[in-house]
Amino acid sequence: MDPTSLQRLVFLTSLLSCSTNQARLTVTPSSSQVFEDERVSLRCEDASDGWTVRRNRSYENRAECGVDKWGRSAGSSCTISSSDPLDSGVYWCESPEGSTSNTITITVSGGSVILQSPVLPVIEGDDVTLTCRTKMADPPSADFYKDGVSIRNESDGHMTLHHVARSDEGLYKCRVQSKGESPESRLSVSEKPTTTSPPPASSLHLVFRVICHLVVFCPYCFSTFLMVSIYRERATGSDPSVSVVMTPLTHAEQGLDDDYDDVMSAVTTEHQF
Ligand SMILES: *[C@@H]1O[C@H](CO)[C@@H](O)[C@H](O)[C@H]1NC(C)=O
Repeated sequence: MDPTSLQRLVFLTSLLSCSTNQARLTVTPSSSQVFEDERVSLRCEDASDGWTVRRNRSYENRAECGVDKWGRSAGSSCTISSSDPLDSGVYWCESPEGSTSNTITITVSGGSVILQSPVLPVIEGDDVTLTCRTKMADPPSADFYKDGVSIRNESDGHMTLHHVARSDEGLYKCRVQSKGESPESRLSVSEKPTTTSPPPASSLHLVFRVICHLVVFCPYCFSTFLMVSIYRERATGSDPSVSVVMTPLTHAEQGLDDDYDDVMSAVTTEHQF
């Protein structure tokens, strides 16, 4: 393989692996609401160099972590060491070319009650637990609300929604007697991925995978073929050591194929000279 085709191969392989990766934003703690002064860490996963965390707030757009006077950035991560209610907003990762990840909505509460709910959409059919927390460690008895309507009281502060459906989507909050209520957070439910009829994006992905496997597999086939040919060339050549080693094998092995027999008869013939 000459250097140019090797370069093309490397380029193609990196292109394929790039196109199948999608950057994701994750947050720690994994909750859409946090108390004031809590530490919040944001990470861009599967992101190459140059991706940064950005946010929109009601009065400020696309502010970059570490640059626009918020957060401390390290690579593609960002940390807010002591959060403030003013840090409430929509967060995402963005590449220098303008590609974006998923978004995460974070609400920082200056009050004494928060609702912990998933930051990412939950999958249809899964069970989801929402937790009502006060600044004290123990989960209290709490009332849960959906779209402003009281739906349940839970004595331990945990409300589990079994087999969530699209109809469970909405704005949730909780209320603790004599402590007050949490801010509202949206619960999103995404459709269960279908396995029977993959969407067009998946078949394109499949084509990429097949090409990818071929690109990886071909050099192995080629080098194996090359090694066999070199070996055969040497075997038919005039190297006496090869002939001496190979001759007993011809007698020992009975199940040799025709090609191999040809080689061996050539070797033996040569040996008899
Ligand atoms: C952030 O604000 C900009 C400008 O208003 C808007 O175009 C963009 O869609 C917003 N991004 C998110 C994730 O809300």
